[in-house]
Amino acid sequence: MTKAPEPSTIDWKNLGFEYMDLPFRYLAHWKDGQWDEGELTEDSTLHISEGATALHYGQADFEGLKAYRTKNNEIQLFRPDQNAQRMQNSCKRLLMPTMPADRFIDAAMQVVKANEDFVPPYGTGGTLYLRPLMIGVGGTIGVHAAPEYIFTIFAMPVGAYYKGGVKPTNFTTSYYDRAAPHGTGQSKVGGNYGSSLLPGDEAHKAGYSDVVYLDPATHTKIEEAGSANFFGITKDDKFVTPKSDSILPSVTKRSLLFLAKNRLGLETEEGDVFIDDLDRFKEAGAMGTAAVIAPIGGIEYKDDLHVFYSETEVGPITQKLYNELTGIQFGDIEAPEGWIYKVK
Ligand code: PLP
Ligand code: COI
Repeated sequence: MTKAPEPSTIDWKNLGFEYMDLPFRYLAHWKDGQWDEGELTEDSTLHISEGATALHYGQADFEGLKAYRTKNNEIQLFRPDQNAQRMQNSCKRLLMPTMPADRFIDAAMQVVKANEDFVPPYGTGGTLYLRPLMIGVGGTIGVHAAPEYIFTIFAMPVGAYYKGGVKPTNFTTSYYDRAAPHGTGQSKVGGNYGSSLLPGDEAHKAGYSDVVYLDPATHTKIEEAGSANFFGITKDDKFVTPKSDSILPSVTKRSLLFLAKNRLGLETEEGDVFIDDLDRFKEAGAMGTAAVIAPIGGIEYKDDLHVFYSETEVGPITQKLYNELTGIQFGDIEAPEGWIYKVK
């Protein structure tokens, strides 16, 4: 694997969302009922048994969070406790051991600190994306939980996830589902993403940024995008986002529900978003750690493109939400209590 380039040679303003093999990652092993001490390592290759459950039976879950460089050149994490908690929930769903939240956060801090030179400069829009991952390993062939586990956190500098960044792009719907009712949609597990690859590829080939999945039971309601939750702004300024047991409980969504209400003074609602009732929205977007807030120009459904605010301009409320969220993340705007963790 090619190692990351010298930080001084990186074009920070034009980073996409690509893997980069940074100098350090954190690695811990679980065996005989407990985690070892864990450590930073320079080896970016995992050495695992061919009988690992992660390879056969999908015993694999992950997280995504970011480190931000502030104007004062400090580095901070945004709500890592929420990712730690969600990963514990995903692990329980897949019958995997959990990583205590304090250890998860400490490991994330260690990885940021060790790769500090790769945290993009303030003002470039770039961030250091952290990818915590847990997999079942050890030799197994029956369909049951693995005897051993690996927990790792690796990192890389990233820019926009959807190519438009904060410019609108179009999304489409799909015949396929990413998750089932009572399945694993609520958990951040590898299998959900495996099943989204084919519909995602079809969407990209047709010129769309991503699929907006419909509810798997009736295909009448918007659930979420392949890599982000959905929101719409109604004509009377309400921030609306789908409520469903088969979507990922997004940290960004939870944060925006709070900010929309308490900072922008908007009414908020988690409820049904019917695909044939998109006229109620004047703006729409996708929200997530990687996506940040990606304005949705339009959604294609049954050969019809429903345009919200504009296919080329970001709507004013979406822009305000973006400014508030990223202002907090980069340390320019005061954060609600407990949202920011300084990396020391
Ligand atoms: N939905 C899916 C399917 C995702 O992969 C993500 C990304 O993590 C999100 C939503 C957004 O979640 P968060 O805001 O916690 O990153
Ligand atoms: C994230 O936003 O952190 C994600 O995990 C989305 C995607 C890259 C899978």
